[in-house]
Amino acid sequence: MRHLLAIRDLAQAELQALVARGLALREGATPAKAQGAIATVFYEDSTRTRLSFQQAGALLGLHHLSISTEGSSIQKGESVEDTLRTVAALGARVAAVRSPWGLSLQALTDLPIQLVNAGDGWAQHPTQAIADLIAVKREFGEMQGRTLLIVGDILHSRVARSNAEGFRALGARVLLAGPPTLLPPGLAQGLGAEEVQLEEGLRQADVCMVLRLQRERQERGYLPSIAEYRRLWGLTAARAALLHEGAVILHPGPQNRDVEIDDELVAAPQSRIAEQITSGVYGRAAVLEAMLDAH
Ligand code: CP
Repeated sequence: MRHLLAIRDLAQAELQALVARGLALREGATPAKAQGAIATVFYEDSTRTRLSFQQAGALLGLHHLSISTEGSSIQKGESVEDTLRTVAALGARVAAVRSPWGLSLQALTDLPIQLVNAGDGWAQHPTQAIADLIAVKREFGEMQGRTLLIVGDILHSRVARSNAEGFRALGARVLLAGPPTLLPPGLAQGLGAEEVQLEEGLRQADVCMVLRLQRERQERGYLPSIAEYRRLWGLTAARAALLHEGAVILHPGPQNRDVEIDDELVAAPQSRIAEQITSGVYGRAAVLEAMLDAH
């Protein structure tokens, strides 16, 4: 695997192997070792993804070079291509790149550095999906026969796209629920998922994944108000009671507590939100092992 740009680029067996390896590392397997450095090149803010790539790199023995928009020559107008060439010349073999724009990483794959998509625009966040698949595999074993419900702003969510692709590829059923402006006609079908009423989806779900509400959506006319969103689409404690015993709650973070998810649910017994973050380290380590042919 030279680059990882999207979940759909992985064959089912490759995805299965990355999830299995990530889970093995999560449960104590010894990481393989690699030489050189990983660069995190982030044009958008991040806590979990950036730090977990750093942690994953450290597990493999990689040095970490960190670039973000603030405090780098990006402020002087340096292009993405030149930034990636620069970190390659500094010793980075692989770059985890995050951008808010739907950056075409595909157009950069001839540069002398391997690329991992660390979240681009609305498009893809493949290592988030691998983290989530590891957390769910740890809980339930296989995805086959399981039902994932994703709730909220599907339209603008790279997490929803990557997870819908990943869970479906491994045999899960994917349900989507959200306001019509944020789940427009045809989107569910395009992702191979089914659109459902929220309450019905909650009754069927083994995994309920709540998406972060991007507050600027209200200003852009997608939502009447934050309070209305919470009333109609928030995972409240009352709605969470519709989940069957044994179902788990995920949220890719960061959470708007008491908006899309009740404060008390974030660390409730059925929450696996912290586990998603931890699984993210090991999933990214599995990706780096595969990309760098670590041994
Ligand atoms: N889930 C996720 O991508 O979180 P960060 O923005 O903190 O990296």
